[in-house]
Amino acid sequence: MSEIKTVNLENLTPNMEILAYTRFSGAYKSMDENTTTFIKKNFAGTKARVIRNSKTIECPINNVLPKDTVRKIYDFPKQLQKRTLVTDGLIHALKKRGFLGFEVRIKVAKVYGAKSEDYKKAVAKAGDLVEKVKEGVKKREGASDAIEDSLDATRRTGKIQTSDIKAYVDDIVQSSSTDAILAIGSLKRSDQTYAHCVDVAAIFHNAYYKICRKKGKTPAFMDEEESMFAGFVHDFGKSKIPKDILDSTVRFERDSKEMKLMQSHPVMSAQLLASMDMKDIIVDMAHYHHVKYDNTMRSSYPKGVSIDDLMYESKLLCIVDVYQALIGRRSYKKSWAPGAAIRYIDSLAGVEFDPNAWNDFVEAVGTYPNSSLVRLSDDSLAYVMDQSDNDPEKPKIVIVKDADGNMVSNHELVDLEKEKDLEIEEDVDHEEEFGSNALEVFMSIKLS
Ligand SMILES: [Fe+2]
Ligand SMILES: [Fe+2]
Repeated sequence: MSEIKTVNLENLTPNMEILAYTRFSGAYKSMDENTTTFIKKNFAGTKARVIRNSKTIECPINNVLPKDTVRKIYDFPKQLQKRTLVTDGLIHALKKRGFLGFEVRIKVAKVYGAKSEDYKKAVAKAGDLVEKVKEGVKKREGASDAIEDSLDATRRTGKIQTSDIKAYVDDIVQSSSTDAILAIGSLKRSDQTYAHCVDVAAIFHNAYYKICRKKGKTPAFMDEEESMFAGFVHDFGKSKIPKDILDSTVRFERDSKEMKLMQSHPVMSAQLLASMDMKDIIVDMAHYHHVKYDNTMRSSYPKGVSIDDLMYESKLLCIVDVYQALIGRRSYKKSWAPGAAIRYIDSLAGVEFDPNAWNDFVEAVGTYPNSSLVRLSDDSLAYVMDQSDNDPEKPKIVIVKDADGNMVSNHELVDLEKEKDLEIEEDVDHEEEFGSNALEVFMSIKLS
């Protein structure tokens, strides 16, 4: 029995026969004379797919020219068996020469026995994230509806109705779904207020507990549910703002009545929560989540509050609030790729945001947060699935579109820490790439 699959260099095993070389290091991009001569000589008799003047061409390897970018080498003649039968020696040579991905025929069914326990664990973790994302879509929607209902009830009664939202908080915390909600939040359009509260709560909770674990810090909350709840209710003062202003898709003028009303929501949140005898930390977070490091900025409110007056948790919430606002699509502006949002906020640390809380946040979520879509150095596109403990630039990824622009169906987890020849080149706006299907593409990831 045999099976045809696409694999990365690190996953080649001796029970495989290479049918085609499909991913290449940068040396094969717009090739120089030496590389061109090298492949003509070493792959004589094969065919190649190359990009020449932005056009894809299939030709005998002998017709490849300098400046071509090689995409595929295939149709190996019998005399080139030494380049197709996988041995340790061949793997070594392939690595040295920058050949990174292959279409292979697997000769026996069991191929994963040789994979390390760590790799299997990483695959299980990434698979778990995809499953949690599938379940999380409904949870996030339900929680978002609960926030909307609760805001309406608060508008009517002047008191926050907590039972419904607490049920969602409990469910999300107990099913460990904050990672998934964070991913969904960056892949799916959100409304201005309701899903924002859910996403902010999930991102805050996720980052905060990672920070506490990393620093050996005792969380300031009674339990994890309380931290998530604090995120859920931080904008509840918005219940005092007329709905047409709250749901408006127009950006308000700087000193307009509407803008002033919008900017009063943190004070109103704090008043509401304090009147319900909520803990100081919950009130503090709601009260000060729009205070800027430089509080003379127009966008810093309430006025007259210094960042030094804030609890650490509130400083962190200031960052999460803006991060979510950037990655969550608002109707009046374009959304940001998570990594691009990270780099943007990074440029404002020490101006708008507390630099220490910012460093903690980036360490927790990574330079390329999970579910970011990235372009790799071989031009393929991948989703980030998990962070590295050692290098924020080297997360674990899954390639979803190959360098030729074809969707990949055999998904494989690639650890960029191990695959030295492959690196992230840039963030990609998932919406520009996949339209409204970004979340579906993420959910279709099937790891073997
Ligand atoms: Fe707010
Ligand atoms: Fe907010």
